[in-house]
Amino acid sequence: MKKYQLPPLPYNDSDLYPVISAETITFHYGKHTQGYIDKLNALIAGTSYEALPLETIVKTSDGALFNNAAQAWNHLFYFASFSPTGHRAPRGKLAAAIDKQWGSFARFQELFEAEAVALFGSGWIWLCADNKGELAIFPESNAGTPLSRGLIPLLAFDVWEHAYYIDYRNRRAEHVNRLWDIIDWTVIEKRYV
Ligand SMILES: [Fe+2]
Repeated sequence: MKKYQLPPLPYNDSDLYPVISAETITFHYGKHTQGYIDKLNALIAGTSYEALPLETIVKTSDGALFNNAAQAWNHLFYFASFSPTGHRAPRGKLAAAIDKQWGSFARFQELFEAEAVALFGSGWIWLCADNKGELAIFPESNAGTPLSRGLIPLLAFDVWEHAYYIDYRNRRAEHVNRLWDIIDWTVIEKRYV
């Protein structure tokens, strides 16, 4: 039996258009994310990893198993951060922590986008919290995730070309700038406990 399945998204494939097209969702979620989950299932079959939660597999594996487990986890986290409606800016204690760390939400967005543009090759840009609630932005190459650093992930932008090439071709900066229009900060706030 396959342990992990691709869950249905909480929105329709066309709901994030024009920021992310239905075609990108079909490929990025339906093919790439499904592919990581298929490889993860194949790699854990018949091993002691089969009994572990996905987050624990990410924290305790390396090599091909880490790459596929982390990419599965990262993508489920990423796709759960969007909605066609919802709050487009943080509120409450997360808003206060962002202001404390960077001065304003606008300045945080500017720095987050700059890291996304600067990251060489494929990877992810993360907003994370430590166990004291202090925030930081971390760029990670390839399947890199803050789970490996013992940090709490709050927000991720996928800067692999497969995330934007259909809709934006090579224009990564434009893609990451548009992502703010579909982030649902109600979801992000719930991750900051
Ligand atoms: Fe991706």
